[in-house]
Amino acid sequence: MCGIFAYLNYNVNRERRYILQVLFNGLRRLEYRGYDSAGIAIDSDPKPAPQASSASASDSDPPPIVFRQEGNIESLVKSVYQDVAKLELNLEASFSTHAGLAHTRWATHGEPAPRNSHPQSSGPGNEFLVVHNGVITNYEVLKETLIRHGFIFESDTDTEVIPKLAKYVYDKANEAADGQVVTFSQVVLEVMRHLEGAYALIFKSSHYPNELIACKRGSPLLLGVKEMTENKENGSAFDDNKTLSKDGGPKELFLSSDANAVIEHTKKVLVIEDGEVVHLKEGGVYILKFENDKGERVASPTKIASVRRALSVLEMEVQQINKGHYEHYMQKEINEQPESLTTTMRGRLILRGSSKSKSVLLGGLKDHLKTIRRSRRILFIGCGTSYNAALAARPILEELTGIPVTMEIASDLLDRQGPIYREDTAVFVSQSGETHDTLVALQYALDNGALCVGITNTVGSAIARNTHCGVHINAGAEIGVASTKAYTSQIVVMAMLALAIGGDTLSNQARREAIIDGLFDLPNKVREVLKLDQEMKDLAKLLSAEQSLLVFGRGYNYATALEGALKVKEVALMHSEGILAGEMKHGPLALVDETLPIVVIATRDACFSKQQSVIQQLIARRGRLVVMCSKGDASSVSPSETVRVIEVPQVEDCLQPVINVVPLQLLAYHLTVLRGFNVDQPRNLAKSVTTQ
Ligand code: F6R
Repeated sequence: MCGIFAYLNYNVNRERRYILQVLFNGLRRLEYRGYDSAGIAIDSDPKPAPQASSASASDSDPPPIVFRQEGNIESLVKSVYQDVAKLELNLEASFSTHAGLAHTRWATHGEPAPRNSHPQSSGPGNEFLVVHNGVITNYEVLKETLIRHGFIFESDTDTEVIPKLAKYVYDKANEAADGQVVTFSQVVLEVMRHLEGAYALIFKSSHYPNELIACKRGSPLLLGVKEMTENKENGSAFDDNKTLSKDGGPKELFLSSDANAVIEHTKKVLVIEDGEVVHLKEGGVYILKFENDKGERVASPTKIASVRRALSVLEMEVQQINKGHYEHYMQKEINEQPESLTTTMRGRLILRGSSKSKSVLLGGLKDHLKTIRRSRRILFIGCGTSYNAALAARPILEELTGIPVTMEIASDLLDRQGPIYREDTAVFVSQSGETHDTLVALQYALDNGALCVGITNTVGSAIARNTHCGVHINAGAEIGVASTKAYTSQIVVMAMLALAIGGDTLSNQARREAIIDGLFDLPNKVREVLKLDQEMKDLAKLLSAEQSLLVFGRGYNYATALEGALKVKEVALMHSEGILAGEMKHGPLALVDETLPIVVIATRDACFSKQQSVIQQLIARRGRLVVMCSKGDASSVSPSETVRVIEVPQVEDCLQPVINVVPLQLLAYHLTVLRGFNVDQPRNLAKSVTTQ
């Protein structure tokens, strides 16, 4: 749940000021992953005489310096510059080669405080420093053992065992090495053997100056490569087919939890895989992995082999991760939904032949459609907003495929160990593709033999890699912690999934064509609904001092009620509940009075008349209502002048949740600004929940 970043400049002179800027900017890009506290490690001033390239450490090498600070990245930046002045470090000091580490934290073990921030250290002298994203589940046992060996722990973190274990392994290996050199990767591989849980780690050591080691199991990590010159004689370090090899040419290397922190430097990346150890040394990139006797890649450490890997080229652009003229990422992402939806559908809606017959093509599923159609049931599995998106798509899947669809919140499925069968298709929905609960549920479904389909926004994510097949939602980077554009793109992908699985029968042809036409026109309709911005701001002004807000929906828009309420509670920090309108009489009605604001979603669909009667019953109890209805329906839903109405464009019923959620996203956004809370970094939350 944290963000980790490292920057290694090799044979390129960089001043300390520049190195600090790269590390801070890397952290700013990753801040959405956690913002309780942050830290960095950099080298002390270089010694004047020998070349600063990868010489072996000597006793006189000054240790790396660690800066850690509670609060967000800007608090760290401020305190680092104050400390740099106090320590009389030279910001102009130039390093031909330098390896810096950085971390932004979402606290799991231990309160946000400098001692619990990363880099965590092996002890005095910072012989080994580690930044970590994930959770080490066996840290207590390791800690007890290390304490018995004389180590003194300073933090409450699970991470601190890692650098201390590295020092223990290093010291033991040197005692036994009989003068032979113990390499950095040998130390890290041995440390990995003892770790259980999920992690992405970067190591820096005073014993191996100018080197870094990254390794991972379960948490995301990638390497970015920027070569400063092409080596024509020997071929580039990364030759034409972009195979990663060893080369000593000047370059900058970046390790990061995600591509956002790398894209402004380079588009060439290597997505590090579970069990791999990536050693950056003397301008080369050396990859080791664990495998079994048959040469198969395995998660748990056995035999070690070295690997060559190809670099991939990121398709994203820097502009995508900038705020542009918007004040907040959430605002930008709400407003870019017409474009993100267009990208989601690009190349997937097909008009065929002169008759212009319409169909859907989802390339990632085409070899599995037959199996999915034969499934006994489809399970949708996800958390939070991703779960809500699946809930919004459920009715159209049931209608077009005739296959029973069940909904599972990932953690609840695991708590119950609910039954999953070989004849099931399990669809995993996740923006990040890295959510811990969803990933564990995926493993559970794989173990039970289900066909597993991934729907994610993150190419190369664990869910994308570990499912049998899937669809990327292609919504572009979503940086605001509250999910907005990913939600609407997820619904659209699942509507296309329903069309693809449902196939083309005469009986459903008209319905299919109407949905496909609706999809083509959806970005325009979202553009139209975004014009409600001022109206939603005005409503937010009316509601900003309230304690609570209820949102009633049903049918396709039960999910909209849940999602609207989730947005309000998570960013505006206002209590809010999404309620299934059909359940109103069975309890929630007791809350209704003239003070509690209630949004009722009553756009045109098969449930419209039922929602009209809900409105009547609420008015009869003097409910304080805001009704969302289809354009032109104001008088049908608002017999009383006390009811405030929001009119939205009408689209095909199964796509209406995409339209209806937008005013609620805008409402949550404006409520947050008015109530003075942090829009993009809501209290206690982080974008990607990679812990249990
Ligand atoms: C709410 C939100 C969360 C996520 C949930 C799952 O705005 O973003 O509820 O939807 O943590 O995350 P993903 O989709 O990355 O699996």
